[in-house]
Amino acid sequence: MKSAAHRAHQGYILVGGLPLNNVHPDLARVLITPEQIQQRVKEMADQISRDFNQISRLYIVGILKGAFILLADLTRELSVPHTVDFMALSSYGKTTESGAVRILMDLREPVEGQHVLIVEDIIDTGHTLRYLYHILKGRQPTSLHTCVLVRKTRQNLEIPLDYLGFEIPDVWVVGYGLDYADRYRTLPYVAELKKEIYSQD
Ligand code: PRP
Repeated sequence: MKSAAHRAHQGYILVGGLPLNNVHPDLARVLITPEQIQQRVKEMADQISRDFNQISRLYIVGILKGAFILLADLTRELSVPHTVDFMALSSYGKTTESGAVRILMDLREPVEGQHVLIVEDIIDTGHTLRYLYHILKGRQPTSLHTCVLVRKTRQNLEIPLDYLGFEIPDVWVVGYGLDYADRYRTLPYVAELKKEIYSQD
């Protein structure tokens, strides 16, 4: 199996945004269209299938809630044998340095001796994925890799990011699993939320 670490920054950098035709009125601009998402997810799935084509099973760990749509689309494009499980994490103090993270729901099976792929929707501060990576690493999987749809460009992650969909600006994004107050998750695109929507709470 080849290491995928060298592909860490193959995500696209999106700066423009698209005209808002027939999209939700709470949105400022569409950053990633459904077509761009589907194409990139397929590319990532093909790459993962190539990288893991020698193994008997890939243990995919989806992080609830945000990763459920990416996980569903990605796994249906994989040709490598795989199983799916989920964890739920809660992070506190996104605006603080502490970034404390707590496990709300754990995996059903041990990951020891497994080839594990974490699937996450977004890296914002990076606290959640960093915490999870170290937790799972400590459980002694045979290999541990990460797959993330979007990453904000401002932070230093300090862990390997093996499969990245897109790099995005530091704005509040929703859609394709991403939420604000548990809303907008099922929009088929990734879009910037208008500031007045999240600043009125
Ligand atoms: C979101 C997202 C990531 C995390 C990223 O989860 O799904 O798990 O935040 O942020 P970070 O890089 O700053 O840690 P959230 O806690 O909002 O829960 P959700 O997935 O249920 O929306």
